[in-house]
Amino acid sequence: MRLDSPTRLSPNTLALHWVVAFGVIALLATGLYMEQTGAYALYPWHKSFGVLIALFVVLRVDWRIRNGWPPHVGDHTPVGNLLSKAVHWLLIIGTALMPITGFLMSAMGGHGVAFFGIELVAPNPDPADPQEVVAHNAALAQVTHTLHGWGGNLLIGAVALHVMGALKHHLIDRDGTLRRMLGTEVGTAP
Ligand code: HEM
Ligand code: HEM
Repeated sequence: MRLDSPTRLSPNTLALHWVVAFGVIALLATGLYMEQTGAYALYPWHKSFGVLIALFVVLRVDWRIRNGWPPHVGDHTPVGNLLSKAVHWLLIIGTALMPITGFLMSAMGGHGVAFFGIELVAPNPDPADPQEVVAHNAALAQVTHTLHGWGGNLLIGAVALHVMGALKHHLIDRDGTLRRMLGTEVGTAP
């Protein structure tokens, strides 16, 4: 299995980065839209893609542990180094925690979770009013709901910083950081 090198990223790193990146951006957008408009038709899709992305996040964390972080392309100041590392950690931790909190809040809240129609956790309808559900653990559902909301905001901030960093490398430093993440072989000098 080819590992990342300073000049070229492995196919694993490229594929996992872009699948998770676009998946997470789409989930952040649908999540916010759902929360603001109560568009219930989107809920099963958000949950199914959220569970699917969780599988890729696990593969990605496993790949990071085996491969390590990709070495830098351009010159970095100590502050730049620290900032990019901190943001990468926030992104990895955020993408791992969002599916867990999302799953727990839906399951514990009694709403259930299905994966593209396959029932993973059954909903818990209220016998008095079958349109409503009864929580299995209302406190845990509440805490994980709050964490899912905070996590979403944290991820949005981290993604914004991350994309600004990628654009800074490309447009201001003019090094190969972004081109390498797009699959191009780059020189080691900035
Ligand atoms: C259009 C949006 C994005 C662009 C242009 C972009 C660009 C990049 C670039 C150029 C790198 C390489 C940095 C280096 O060589 O040190 C990188 C790494 C990384 N990106 Fe993104 N990214 C985007 C979205 C995201 C999103 C949404 C996430 C997470 C949810 C993410 C997570 C990461 C992580 C964790 C790394 C570290 C290397 C790795 O684990 O693959 N990125 N990104
Ligand atoms: C990387 C994965 C995920 C991301 C980035 C994400 C993102 C979000 C965001 C940003 C919100 C809006 C929260 C707010 O403004 O308070 C949201 C809402 C929601 N998410 Fe996720 N989510 C993910 C995975 C999941 C999973 C796996 C489930 C369930 C199995 C789930 C269930 C929900 C539900 C039910 C809501 C709506 C809550 C409400 O209307 O009160 N999410 N999500």
